[in-house]
Amino acid sequence: MSAFLWGSATAAYQCEGAWNEDSKGQSNWDVFCHSEKNNINPTTGDIASDHYHRFEEDLDLMAAGGQNAYRFSIAWTRIIPNGTGVVNPEGIAHYNAVIDACLARDIEPVVTLYHYDLPESLFIAGGWENRQTSDAFCAYAKVCFNAFGDRVRTWFTVNEPNYDTLCCYGIGNYPPNVKDLSRRWRAMYHMLLASAKAVAAFHEGAYQGMIGLVSDSYAIEAHSDTPDYQEAKRLADLFYNRSVNDAAVLGQLPTELIDKLHSEGQILDYLLPGDQEILAAGKVDMLGINAYDRMLVKPCTTSQTSLSTNNTGTADSSNETNIAGWFSVDEDPTTQKNAWGMELYPKSIYTLLHQLNDHYPNLVFMITENGMGYRDQLVDGQIHDTYRVDFLKGFVNWTLKAREEGCDVRSYFVWSTMDLYSWINGYAKRYGLVYVDYNDNCRRIPKDSYYWYKDTIAAWNQKEGR
Ligand code: BG6
Repeated sequence: MSAFLWGSATAAYQCEGAWNEDSKGQSNWDVFCHSEKNNINPTTGDIASDHYHRFEEDLDLMAAGGQNAYRFSIAWTRIIPNGTGVVNPEGIAHYNAVIDACLARDIEPVVTLYHYDLPESLFIAGGWENRQTSDAFCAYAKVCFNAFGDRVRTWFTVNEPNYDTLCCYGIGNYPPNVKDLSRRWRAMYHMLLASAKAVAAFHEGAYQGMIGLVSDSYAIEAHSDTPDYQEAKRLADLFYNRSVNDAAVLGQLPTELIDKLHSEGQILDYLLPGDQEILAAGKVDMLGINAYDRMLVKPCTTSQTSLSTNNTGTADSSNETNIAGWFSVDEDPTTQKNAWGMELYPKSIYTLLHQLNDHYPNLVFMITENGMGYRDQLVDGQIHDTYRVDFLKGFVNWTLKAREEGCDVRSYFVWSTMDLYSWINGYAKRYGLVYVDYNDNCRRIPKDSYYWYKDTIAAWNQKEGR
């Protein structure tokens, strides 16, 4: 990989649709979205953006927009419908077609193996709380390396072990809808183990290219610098960042994390002899970073953990994070937020990259997602999303500044390629560079941000002499 990758990203469940076509198995998200538990914005990914049938059209738009990379995830349930065992040739054929369609347009395919959708059979057997899921994942990863490794050079194992497990087992809004952080740590540990096993298999198989993990990492900041605030920052860094990144990059869980969980009386019976060797053998070649906002934190003063998130984009719902014994999430009343309470603070990527670069010197970074959710309005056939352009422009500029200052950043991907299903938030919260008119057969309409991105890439290419 030599040229800087300018692309956009999606995930299978969020855009493909075709939930029961071509011998695909059911995932936990298929089942959850079809169930009564899906009651906040009850909708499904059954059709989503219909990307399964329209990927050629979407790739045409990417190519016309100057993008040279496409990050997408493979649905495990298309490749191995039951989670383990028999491989589905129709699933292999589908992703072969997607990869070939990328290459035909000079678009580098960047593949994520797991982006939240777990085969239902594994979910029923305990999901990520069950250690066997890590072996099933490694077996699935090997199938993908063998099938696609001749053409795919950039792989990611797992998307966001922190955020995914926090939603599944902390906030409780993702399946299995649990609010128990001790179960979260167990599930996250197995995800990290799964990733390490797949990374080791990739290296052992001597496939060409690089493999990493996608981490939702955060710049950790605070309003005050007193010792109690400094301690809150240290704990938040451990909770969100180092728990995942140390395991992936350094091949070991931070001792401080193990001590902290022990001090809470948690039973860490899932840390088995030999695991240290597994993590050490599965160090990533690069770290993917999904960058949306920073974490502004303060000391936690409550004795109860309480976590909630705004999934409606209305005042009826709110974001709250109090992790008893750790930290609370603070607010800056002076910064702008979107309707879902996400702070619009592009400088966070600059601070984050430097924080990570200090902690993991010489690490290769890929910005694998950055985007802004908004209720875009189609007016006279156009979407003037200047708010998104301003937000993305800020992130691009701060990313490039960190790069100039020595952070080895190799890519920037906008979330998302086109509008798609936003977990729990439904379809009203749009992120795409391209609008999807769900009322008109999923018609695609490039937004102003699409054209801004095209110009930004063209200007970069001119500067780089490409
Ligand atoms: C990232 C995920 O955390 O955030 C994406 O990788 C997700 O899958 C994106 O869609 C935006 O989050 P949300 O909840 O607003 O869709």
